[in-house]
Amino acid sequence: MTCHSQLWDKAGVLAPVRASLASGRPVRWQRIAQLPDYVYFDHSIHIDRGVGCVECHGRIDRMPLTARAKPFRMGFCLDCHRDPSTRLRPASLVTRMEPLPWTSDERRRFGKAAMAHFGIDPRKLDNCGVCHR
Ligand code: HEC
Ligand code: HEC
Ligand code: HEC
Repeated sequence: MTCHSQLWDKAGVLAPVRASLASGRPVRWQRIAQLPDYVYFDHSIHIDRGVGCVECHGRIDRMPLTARAKPFRMGFCLDCHRDPSTRLRPASLVTRMEPLPWTSDERRRFGKAAMAHFGIDPRKLDNCGVCHR
């Protein structure tokens, strides 16, 4: 409420947050992005290797109310694991939402160099045991 006593302080969508503060009862969060328990996932390696938030969560900056941008099916994960070369960026730009000002050639060239630098091997990244441990 430190922010929301000043910003969007009358927004209907935040009524449950104001009610929670008044009553002292915690908000019941509805998870939007959630994988089944049998899938292993860790943000840190993705962020470290330069996979932007937008690749998986879409344009969060344009969602006043957060919606799931991608279904998070197995195929979605595998598509990138089999060829991440067009989906990597400098780690300093992982939170940037707007498209990068790069041509697709430039992007692929960066991606290939990053894969070589980190030793990312797509032939190993679709092994079942990477995500099902
Ligand atoms: C490679 C895909 C991927 C990237 C990149 C990624 N995320 Fe996620 N994120 C996920 C998945 C998958 C989950 C659900 C994880 C689970 O269920 O354990 C998730 C969950 C979350 C959640 C919890 C959402 C909820 O509904 O409770 C937040 C917040 C989040 N991510 C923020 C970020 C931010 C910020 C970044 C960038 C710095 C980022 N993520 C980058 C895939 C990704
Ligand atoms: C846009 C590209 C992209 C997407 C989408 C993506 N990944 Fe990854 N993932 C990567 C990259 C790049 C790595 C790093 C590989 C490396 O460094 O060898 C990685 C690594 C991993 C690892 C290995 C972590 C470790 O500690 O060895 C796991 C597990 C993983 N991803 C799970 C997932 C799951 C589950 C999803 C789908 C919900 C997903 N990833 C979606 C690009 C992606
Ligand atoms: C990059 C991560 C990743 C890899 C690698 C991966 N999976 Fe998955 N798998 C997922 C995710 C995410 C889900 C849950 C979403 C879904 O059901 O599509 C899933 C779901 C499943 C399910 C349940 C499907 C259902 O309809 O209930 C099975 C079975 C499965 N995987 C088998 C495999 C096998 C076999 C392999 C190796 C050939 C494999 N997976 C490799 C991420 C992965």
